[in-house]
Amino acid sequence: MNKRTTIVMSQTMLPSQANPAGNVHGGEIMKLMDSAAGAAAHRYARCNVVTARVDELQFLYPVFVGDFVTCTATVAYVGTTSMEVVVTVDVEDLESEDPPKRTQTAYFTMVALDKDGKPKKIPPLSPETEEEKILFAEGHQRRLEREKRRAARNA
Ligand SMILES: CC(C)(COP(=O)(O)OP(=O)(O)OC[C@H]1O[C@@H](n2cnc3c(N)ncnc32)[C@H](O)[C@@H]1OP(=O)(O)O)[C@@H](O)C(=O)NCCC(=O)NCCS
Repeated sequence: MNKRTTIVMSQTMLPSQANPAGNVHGGEIMKLMDSAAGAAAHRYARCNVVTARVDELQFLYPVFVGDFVTCTATVAYVGTTSMEVVVTVDVEDLESEDPPKRTQTAYFTMVALDKDGKPKKIPPLSPETEEEKILFAEGHQRRLEREKRRAARNA
C-alpha cells in the first residue's frame, strides 16, 4: 500500500447513524467514503479539493450498529486538475471470527481547486509498483469511458 496515495479511515457504527431496526443509513457510509476520498485527494494535491462525481456506488450488504467499518481510499489516476480515487468499504463484526466483508467499491472524481476556487493543475502521478500501474491503467480506462458517456449526453 502506497502511504502517499492511500488513506485508511475506520469507525464503529453508532445508533445515531442507523434506522430504528439498526440498519446504518446509506448516507452515513457515503459520507465516510467521501471524507476518505477527500483526504486522499487533498494529501495528493496539497490543496483544497471537491467531489465532482461518484461512479458505481452500490450497497451490496447491510451494515448494522456496532459494525466496524473501514474505508480505504487510493488515488488511482490523475488527469490535469482531477483525480480518480478508488474507495473500498470493508465491514467487520468485531464479535465474530468472520473476516471483514467488502461491501462497496466506488470511484470518486475529485478536482483540485486554487485559492479562487478554480480547477488547479496538480502533479502527474507516476505509478511505480505493479499494483499501482494496474490501478492507473484501469483508472485511465474508466476516465475514457466516462468522457465518452459525457460527450454522448452533451451531443
Ligand atoms: C468540479 C468543478 C470544480 C469542475 O469545474 P469545471 O469548471 O467544470 O472544470 P473543468 O471543466 O475545467 O474540469 C476540471 C476537471 O474536472 C473534471 N470534471 C469536471 N466535471 C466532471 C464530472 N462531472 N465528472 C468527471 N470529471 C469531471 C474534468 O474532466 C477536468 O479534469 P482534468 O483537469 O483532469 O482534465 C465544478 O463543477 C464544481 O465546483 N462542482 C461542485 C463541486 C462540489 O461542490 N462538490 C461537493 C458537493 S456539495
